[in-house]
Amino acid sequence: ADIITLDSGYGNTGSCESAITFINGEEGILRYRGYPIEQLAESATFPEISYLLIYGELPNLEQLSNFRQQLTFHSMIHEDMKKFFEGFRPSAHPMAILSAMVASMSTYYPELAEDDDMNVIRLLAKAKTIAAYAYKKSIGQPFIYPRDDLSYCANFLHMMFAMPTTTYDVPPELANALNMLLILHADHEQNCSTSTVRMVASSQANFFASISAGIGALSGPLHGGANQKVLEMLEMIQQDGGDYMKYVNLAKDKDDEFRLMGFGHRVYKNFDPRATFLRKAADNVIKTMGIDDPLLNIAKGLEEVALSDEYFIERKLYPNVDFYSGILYRAMGIPSAMFTVMFALGRLPGWIAHWKELRQDPGSRINRPRQVYTGPNERTYVPMDQR
Ligand code: CMC
Repeated sequence: ADIITLDSGYGNTGSCESAITFINGEEGILRYRGYPIEQLAESATFPEISYLLIYGELPNLEQLSNFRQQLTFHSMIHEDMKKFFEGFRPSAHPMAILSAMVASMSTYYPELAEDDDMNVIRLLAKAKTIAAYAYKKSIGQPFIYPRDDLSYCANFLHMMFAMPTTTYDVPPELANALNMLLILHADHEQNCSTSTVRMVASSQANFFASISAGIGALSGPLHGGANQKVLEMLEMIQQDGGDYMKYVNLAKDKDDEFRLMGFGHRVYKNFDPRATFLRKAADNVIKTMGIDDPLLNIAKGLEEVALSDEYFIERKLYPNVDFYSGILYRAMGIPSAMFTVMFALGRLPGWIAHWKELRQDPGSRINRPRQVYTGPNERTYVPMDQR
């Protein structure tokens, strides 16, 4: 019989070689193409980091302005695609709409030669428009066209919050906060959704089908869906009079399925550098915007209690990137149903970079894990009248 090594959840299996993102989970290090995440989140723009991840090097001024110009030029979605939105229920989750719309892009844009990046540009440019339209659909407001004079992040916020009846200027602090959040989410090596994109791409399925599958994987509450769940949990604690100890105890109770959302990570065992960065940033942004959000205090209290509790210490459970991102998004006026969509917008360049890396690797072959069979041994078929 074949000898199969079981590695449940692939905790210790390298599925590929990759030159995109480096993580050291013990020391809390995260680098995109060699550059520390803290430096990038502090100083770069999201299109610049998208270029870095997708093409391997930081762009020079001319490369970046061409890239930005293309991302702007392709922001509108085909007018006929707007009709697709009419078919979704108003209560549809925007992540489901995003994955359906991205999958549908393959009906508009045919598979191109591997070295033709037009579809990559189209996806990056249009996903933000689709995301904003999904939100407008959910609140029954008219779609707002993108504007060529705005930056990537400001353009998205414009489509989210502008109305045809009034003028709306995107507050620069909002665009800056979004820029930082998207950079922090841009790649994270072989996480569940990126592995999914690579898995689907390995069969040579089309680009949009591969990315759409990644969006589906990201939507789960143990992955990107956690950011929405964190906020719902903090609201629940607030409504419960702020008694976070009760929830810490629930999370420790092995007879109860409840987990502290936003805690724990497969790879980071000391701290998540993105969470450390976001904790500080959330404080600053919320102060700059003059907001006093009681949920921030609940989050800090919860963090403190959990970090000094033996259960969490023993299992090396620390706040992850999703713990603080929701508080920031909330301060920016983004509703919690959109949080995971925001994560997806940020993760797009990572998925694209991995898709390209896999498709350009002459040594890659279809991803096809094995299993350890645990079913019955051979037995003889029993005719219906004898069962
Ligand atoms: N609350 C309470 N207990 C937990 C938690 C938590 N949030 N996370 C893990 N544990 C316990 C778990 O019950 C297990 O205990 P025991 O050894 O006694 O059975 C132990 O810690 C190890 O957990 P695991 O599920 O084997 O760990 P994993 O590496 O498979 O899962 C995880 C990692 C992130 C899915 C998990 O920690 C979790 O469910 N966290 C909550 C959801 C979350 O915040 N997800 C976002 C992850 S970061 C960004 C992203 O990927 O999108």
